[in-house]
Amino acid sequence: MHIGVLTGGGDCPGLNAVIRAVVLTGHEVHGDEFTGFVDGWRGVIDGRSRPLAPVDVREILAQGGTILGTSRTNPFADEGDVERVLTSLSKFGIDALVAIGGDDTLGVAQRLATLGVHVVGVPKTIDNDLSGTEVTFGFDTAVQIATEAIDRLQTTAESHHRVIVCEVMGRHAGWIAAYAGIAGGAAEILVPEIPFDLDEVCARLTDRHRRGQYSSVVVVSEGSSPRSGPDAEAAARYTSTESVDAFGHARLGGIGAWTASEIERRTGYESRVTALGHIQRGGTPTAYDRVLASRFGVAAVEAVHAGAFTTMVALQAGQIVRVPLEEAVGRPKRVDRSLLTEVAQPLFS
Ligand code: F6P
Repeated sequence: MHIGVLTGGGDCPGLNAVIRAVVLTGHEVHGDEFTGFVDGWRGVIDGRSRPLAPVDVREILAQGGTILGTSRTNPFADEGDVERVLTSLSKFGIDALVAIGGDDTLGVAQRLATLGVHVVGVPKTIDNDLSGTEVTFGFDTAVQIATEAIDRLQTTAESHHRVIVCEVMGRHAGWIAAYAGIAGGAAEILVPEIPFDLDEVCARLTDRHRRGQYSSVVVVSEGSSPRSGPDAEAAARYTSTESVDAFGHARLGGIGAWTASEIERRTGYESRVTALGHIQRGGTPTAYDRVLASRFGVAAVEAVHAGAFTTMVALQAGQIVRVPLEEAVGRPKRVDRSLLTEVAQPLFS
């Protein structure tokens, strides 16, 4: 078969491991040939590709980023682009497409499937907020990076008796904040799923410091916000941006800085902020992510050969399974509240 491969959305450690597994499995086991579309859906629209033979993927397992490039292009945003996608796929003679991406990329894949495109999705995002799978590849690496950062922030916070707010990625869901916060012994974890009351946060920090803890690290997801009211309005002024991407997402950032300055003002504790940003997305994947990405890549090729189109490969109870794309997209997987209330919060003191 002739299989097209693309990576879309924000990059993520493990993308190259998926590409490698797809190409090696397809070539060695099934005799497939591959076309790599560059820069996500942009490359399909423009008919830009690169060859993907085994020789092109043999050394990329541990490499961060994606050798195919990526973009946040949405073919359904601009008139004529969907037709260009269909023309391009037919011109290249693509029998099936493996789309590696998060909610936006796989949402496009699902819509293209209704137009007759044979597509199999692979779940990618450091945010781990895609439904249908217990874990997305890239999440483990991001958590490792954030945890190491929190460990480092703890020692400098202790030395200076400061509060340090660490802003991590997580647009719709606070998985990175929850996992790295627990792993790094955070004093507070603020996530998008639970709007926070900053006065309550400050009261807990004050209580903690009075009981002898003279420093605190507060972990906040970039998508978090205070409960509605004056704080929510003030934070929104601090964090909102005019520009949105092709899927309508605003550029996030700034909640950590607002939270740190308000904690200092309300408690009197000297406070600082560190926003980890794209450090969480760059660089080599952990061993766990390499294995998960490889399992997904192999399973995606097997799904293509089984004719299991309009599905996404997924991890459930330790096994790789196929789920309908419609079960995965358009419904962010939120953090389990019990992780915060039953595990994180008792350990905040
Ligand atoms: O990949 C998802 C994500 O990491 C979000 O958490 C974040 O808001 C976004 O990507 C930022 O991506 P970029 O700055 O590359 O557009």
